[in-house]
Amino acid sequence: MIELIDVAKRFDASATPALDGVSLSVARGEVFGVIGPSGAGKSTLIRLINALERPSAGRVEIDGIDIGTLPAAGLRALRQRIGMIFQNFGLLSSRTVADNVAFPLKLAGVPAAERKARVAELLDRVGLADHAAKYPAQLSGGQKQRVGIARALATGPDILLCDEATSALDPEATRSVLALLRQLNQELGLTIVLITHEMDVVRAVCDRVAVLEQGRVVESGRVDTVFAEARHAATQRMLAGLQA
Ligand SMILES: Nc1ncnc2c1ncn2[C@@H]1O[C@H](COP(=O)(O)OP(=O)(O)OP(=O)(O)O)[C@@H](O)[C@H]1O
Ligand SMILES: [Mg+2]
Repeated sequence: MIELIDVAKRFDASATPALDGVSLSVARGEVFGVIGPSGAGKSTLIRLINALERPSAGRVEIDGIDIGTLPAAGLRALRQRIGMIFQNFGLLSSRTVADNVAFPLKLAGVPAAERKARVAELLDRVGLADHAAKYPAQLSGGQKQRVGIARALATGPDILLCDEATSALDPEATRSVLALLRQLNQELGLTIVLITHEMDVVRAVCDRVAVLEQGRVVESGRVDTVFAEARHAATQRMLAGLQA
């Protein structure tokens, strides 16, 4: 469903590339992890998938279409299919929970009555039905990320990109957000690409994983296999809980 084909990304001609010859393929309905140390190119990789960045070489295909060739309307349609959540939630602090979730619907021109119903349904789905009128500052980290998830799902995407979505959360909130992601994956058939530097996150929720180091995929496959047979030093370091 999502395919990176020999992708390179170079921000600066003289520096080492952020990504270098990355090929990977994410199947529909799977939870795919990308793990790697700081600076490995994880955020760059995710930004290529929603076309916020363009590859310097190679291509990114979604459902067999090179997204680099999409005209503006096609790109807008693609972005409707892709939701994204972030480490720091990215919520509007001056808006209520309900208004934060309604925001992308407003942008998409959804009428008010329909918006209200959809927001109620989304908040219910993420377990925040009782918090609609609160402001982000009144919520715990885990609750804020649930708002982020509800907002990301507002336009009904079939792909969810998560960039260090649990890195600001304590272990309990992390477990609960990961359980919610798994549930959404199963109930909605959502395809999830999850970026993290934590092995435990991959173990908890991913079907397959790619280990990224200095812009290259050094190992990939099913999570249990990759962890059981870790061959590359980068994987072994992460298994030992060390940062490279
Ligand atoms: N917009 C940019 N301009 C120039 N260099 C960039 C840009 N974005 C990323 N880079 C560089 O690309 C490399 C990979 O960065 P990236 O943010 O993808 O890493 P990361 O794996 O997400 O790291 P972290 O775990 O710290 O978030 C780094 O060397 C970074 O400095
Ligand atoms: Mg990053």
